[in-house]
Amino acid sequence: MFQIQVDYALKETETEVISQGLSDFNTPFFGNQQPMCFAVYLRDTHSQVQGGILAWMRPGIKLLCIDTIWLPEELRHHGYGNQLMLAAEAEGLRNGCTHSQLETLPFQAEQFYQQLGYKRIGVIEKMYGEHDSIIMRKMLR
Ligand SMILES: CC(C)(COP(=O)(O)OP(=O)(O)OC[C@H]1O[C@@H](n2cnc3c(N)ncnc32)[C@H](O)[C@@H]1OP(=O)(O)O)[C@@H](O)C(=O)NCCC(=O)NCCS
Repeated sequence: MFQIQVDYALKETETEVISQGLSDFNTPFFGNQQPMCFAVYLRDTHSQVQGGILAWMRPGIKLLCIDTIWLPEELRHHGYGNQLMLAAEAEGLRNGCTHSQLETLPFQAEQFYQQLGYKRIGVIEKMYGEHDSIIMRKMLR
């Protein structure tokens, strides 16, 4: 007999059964390449990471996804955000991605992305309590 169990003490060997299972299920549609995760760091003169981007791409479906971008307050509005985004997009292009996609919230950075050429393609209302989820996309080629 099988049992249903809720577990908060996640073990990679066990979660892998599910994530790998879905990955295999998706393979005929996405191709067999795993998502390529990468970071674009802003490093200081001591080589310490001060901020940056976490992103992934799936060249098989030509998608770049900007997952996380963050800079400390004192480094904002110096153009680093733009440079980081352009570097991530260049990686996407280099790997054959045709579009870049991301999610932002109303209190985050929609205008920042707009000035980089991203356009709203959807809104999920009240996705995070009172906050909508705004999905944006930029065609890279
Ligand atoms: C969003 C973020 C990465 C932008 O980095 P940045 O280095 O400040 O951006 P840039 O200096 O390249 O900005 C270029 C232009 O984008 C616009 N812009 C930048 N940040 C913005 C924001 N948070 N909201 C709206 N517009 C923004 C401005 O027009 C800016 O020009 P200006 O500085 O002359 O006003 C940075 O503000 C940040 O870390 N914010 C907190 C975390 C966050 O919101 N992350 C996004 C999650 S989706």
